[in-house]
Amino acid sequence: MPRIADIGSHEGQTVTLRGWVYNSTRRGKLLFIQLRDGSGIIQAVVRKQNVAEELFEALKRAGQESSVELVGEIKADTRSKLGFELQVSDGRVLGGSEGYPITPKEHGPSFLHDNRHLWFRSQRQFAIMKIRHLCVKAIRDYFDSRDFTLMDSPIFTPNACEGTSTLFSTEYFGETAYLTQSGQLYQEAGALAFGSTYCFGPTFRAEKSSTRRHLTEFWMVEPEVAFADLEDVMEMAEDFLVEVVGFVVESGREYLEILERDISALENVQKPFPRLSYDEACAMLDELGEPVDAEDDFGSPHETKLTEQFDRPIMVHRYPAAVKAFYMKGDPDNPLRALGVDVLAPEGYGEIIGGGAREDDGDVLLAKIHEHGLPEEAFGWYLDLRRYGSVPHGGFGLGLERLVCWVCGIRHIRETIPFPRMIDRLTP
Ligand code: 4AD
Ligand code: MG
Repeated sequence: MPRIADIGSHEGQTVTLRGWVYNSTRRGKLLFIQLRDGSGIIQAVVRKQNVAEELFEALKRAGQESSVELVGEIKADTRSKLGFELQVSDGRVLGGSEGYPITPKEHGPSFLHDNRHLWFRSQRQFAIMKIRHLCVKAIRDYFDSRDFTLMDSPIFTPNACEGTSTLFSTEYFGETAYLTQSGQLYQEAGALAFGSTYCFGPTFRAEKSSTRRHLTEFWMVEPEVAFADLEDVMEMAEDFLVEVVGFVVESGREYLEILERDISALENVQKPFPRLSYDEACAMLDELGEPVDAEDDFGSPHETKLTEQFDRPIMVHRYPAAVKAFYMKGDPDNPLRALGVDVLAPEGYGEIIGGGAREDDGDVLLAKIHEHGLPEEAFGWYLDLRRYGSVPHGGFGLGLERLVCWVCGIRHIRETIPFPRMIDRLTP
């Protein structure tokens, strides 16, 4: 059965199309149905004199999102965006639909999210999901074509990776298990076995406030590379983003257009990305009137102000060790700094990647585990990686939804995942 997206090759032929009534209008003995099949939308023209009486009546009554089968000839139509229309001669209603909740009028976000299972039939949501799909493909292709081995990290874990304040815990046969915050620690085991590995899966953070950048369940891709230092990690993050964004701009243009995305802003994503140390970034923020408290992490106002100064992503490296995770390697030139990097997206989107070099000295790492109040027993296996052939290594984590949000140019991260999970939302 032909798909609407490639209907052009069927001009002049009689075809059968199956799909849903996106919208329909009637003008006397004429019915115009916008037929949607998941690949595109075509206008189907039903003339009363060309079809059986019952069919005309049935189609007339078919409400928004009824499923239908329509048979007709494909004719060129220069007025429509698609360039073709369907002149209906036969068909039938498959599944009726009455009182479809999402009408062409404006609805509030909470109503739309309650109807998320239906909402992504709408054009904008459809376009966002298509962009998400293309991002995932580009991400996988990037690593697969560079000899990274996909090594899935577990979701049930015995310990925290990114601090204990955002852990989800669950009962696990009489013990406590945590939903993973990051697959990184397991990728470190992978990198020491395979050289380069990545995982790409769901991760969980009990984010206690609702912001437009935070989900409680989100997808992260995490490459890890043996013998990589901070410089290598930054180079990889930059090269990766240029390739992924480039692929999406090239292959997802029609969806970016539906979203009215300023494509030139994405075309600026070229190497090299400006690199600033945390201390340089703080000096810049001071001058811009958005000072950072001494030795503190950046908040979103800082990231916004900073990224507004540049037309492409920037990389801020060497943050205060005190605000970063236990596994980060210290800067040998300054014990107060860690060899980590955050990639901040432009246009106010802020952090999309976090990563860096890992502490590879077992004694230092154990001291860090104690300093962070983490239970040593849960990290025995992780410390083994420093006991048996430890090497410098590093990697990063990219939040898929943060990437999609920026690429699509939309305001809120909750529209970038099929079924968002946030502090105030567990359904549908
Ligand atoms: O900066 P984060 O916390 O780094 C890690 O988890 C490292 N272990 C990754 C690594 O080196 N392998 O998180 C990485 C990224 C962030 O930059 C952000 O894009 C995303 O994950 N992220 C979130 N996305 C949506 N909702 C949340 N609550 C997020 N928390 C982090
Ligand atoms: Mg981070």
